[in-house]
Amino acid sequence: MSKRYHIVTYGCQMNVHESEKLAGILRAHGYTEESASPEEADIVVFNTCCIRENAENHAMGNIGALKKVKRARPAMLIAVGGCMTQQEGAAQRLRKKFPFIDIVFGTHNLEEFGDLLARKAAQKKALVAVPERESAVREEDISYRTSYPNAWVNIMYGCNNFCSYCIVPYVRGRERSRSPEAIVREVRGLLAEGYREITLLGQNVNSYAPECGMRFPQLLRKICEGQGKFRLRFMTSNPKDFGEELIDTVAELPQVCKLIHLPVQAGSDRILKLMNRKYTAEEYLKKLESLRKKVPGCEVTSDIMVGFPTETEEEFEQTLSLVKRADLAAAFTFVYSPRSGTKAAAMSGQIPEEVKKERIMRLVELVNAQTREKSAKYLGKTVEILCEDHDEKRGLYLGRDEYGRMGYFPSGDNCIGQFVQMKVTDASGISLYGERADAAGEEHK
Ligand code: 5AD
Ligand code: SF4
Repeated sequence: MSKRYHIVTYGCQMNVHESEKLAGILRAHGYTEESASPEEADIVVFNTCCIRENAENHAMGNIGALKKVKRARPAMLIAVGGCMTQQEGAAQRLRKKFPFIDIVFGTHNLEEFGDLLARKAAQKKALVAVPERESAVREEDISYRTSYPNAWVNIMYGCNNFCSYCIVPYVRGRERSRSPEAIVREVRGLLAEGYREITLLGQNVNSYAPECGMRFPQLLRKICEGQGKFRLRFMTSNPKDFGEELIDTVAELPQVCKLIHLPVQAGSDRILKLMNRKYTAEEYLKKLESLRKKVPGCEVTSDIMVGFPTETEEEFEQTLSLVKRADLAAAFTFVYSPRSGTKAAAMSGQIPEEVKKERIMRLVELVNAQTREKSAKYLGKTVEILCEDHDEKRGLYLGRDEYGRMGYFPSGDNCIGQFVQMKVTDASGISLYGERADAAGEEHK
C-alpha cells in the first residue's frame, strides 16, 4: 500500500526548493502520495526556518499540535529538519520539548534523509542526526518538482558575510558553489522538459564561484548560450558585490528578467555599518542609477528591516526616504528579531517592541502605496504573463509578468506553462486583472 507524506515548509525559496528534494526522497522510499493535512499522513516532515523568532514559534506551535495525533497513531513518523535544528543545541532542546519527534536532521545532511529513514526503520529510539559542519557540495539529483513552469536551481550554498543580525552563516555554513557544468546541465534539462522560468538560488549569488574559475555574470552567459525564450531570475544579490559586469550582463541577455532583488536593509549609514553590510545608502543608490541607465525599465525590489539595535527615529526616517529615492517596486519588510549567537543580539540599545511595531506599520504603508502606484500605470497596457496555475474558486488563470506582478485572466483553453499576452483591465490593487490579448484569447471571446 502506498504511504502518505506531508511536508510543512517555513522560510525562503531555498527551503521551498529543499522541500522538493525531500519530497523526491520520500517518494523514492515508498511515500508515494502527498496528503492534504498532517493528520492523515504516515510521515510529517517540518522543514524549518530560524531567521526570525516568529518563524520558529510557528514551527514549534505546529509540531506541538501533532502530539495528540501521534498519541492516537504512534506509527506515524514525525521528522524535523532545516535551519532551526542546525542551531547549536537546538536538536536537544527540540527533543526535550517534543519527545514524540522521531527524526531530527539538519541543513547539512538533507541529501541523506533517505538513509535516515532506513536507519530509523531499524531502531525504535528517536534518531538525532545533525552534523556540526557543512559537507562539500554533493551532486544534486532532483527527481520531483512542485512549481511547474517555474523551477528553482541551487547554484551555491552558505554565506560568508556575517551581517551582524543574521543567523544564516551559522546554520548554512560557509559559501560553497556547484560546478558550472552541473548547473548548466540541470538548467538545459529543465528547459527541455518544458520549464519556462528558472530561478537561480543562493544566499549571495554574486559571490559565485571563485573555486570554479567562473564568476556569476559568466555563469549567466553560459546558461543562456544558444538558448531560445525562457525567463531567468536569480536571488539573492548582495549590493556590495553587485557590479558593473553583472549590470552589463543583465542588459545583454534577453532571458534575464529585468527585475532585480537587491536587499538594502536600511537607509542610515551608521546602521548599515553596524549591520556589517559594507555599503552606504549613496553607494546603493548609485548602483541603482547605473542599473536603470543600462537596463531601461528595470525594476528593483528589496528587503528592509526596522528596529535594528540603537536605530533612532531619524535613522528610521532615512530608511523611508531611501525607499522613495530608490523607487522600489516592492519590498519584503521585517521587524528586527534578535537571533542568539549573532553580534547584534548582544548589542545594547535593543528597540522596544511597540516602537518596532509602529515603524513597521509606517514602512509597510509607504511600500504598499509605492507598489500600488506602480501597478496603476499598467492599466490598459498589455503584459506578458507566464501562466502558472488555474484558480478554481475564481475561475481564472494566473501567472506573473517579467516584473513578478501577479496577473489573473479568464481563458478558454488551458494555458498553464505558456506565455500569454494579457491586456490589463483592472490595476487598482497589487495584482493585475485582465483579458487575453493574443490569438488564442480572441478565439474564445
Ligand atoms: N531579524 C529580522 N529580519 C532578518 N532578516 C535576516 N535576519 C533577520 C533578523 N534577525 C531579513 C533580512 C534578509 C531577509 C531574508 O530576512 O532583511 O534580507
Ligand atoms: Fe544573512 Fe547577510 Fe548572508 Fe544575507 S548576506 S544570508 S543577510 S549574512
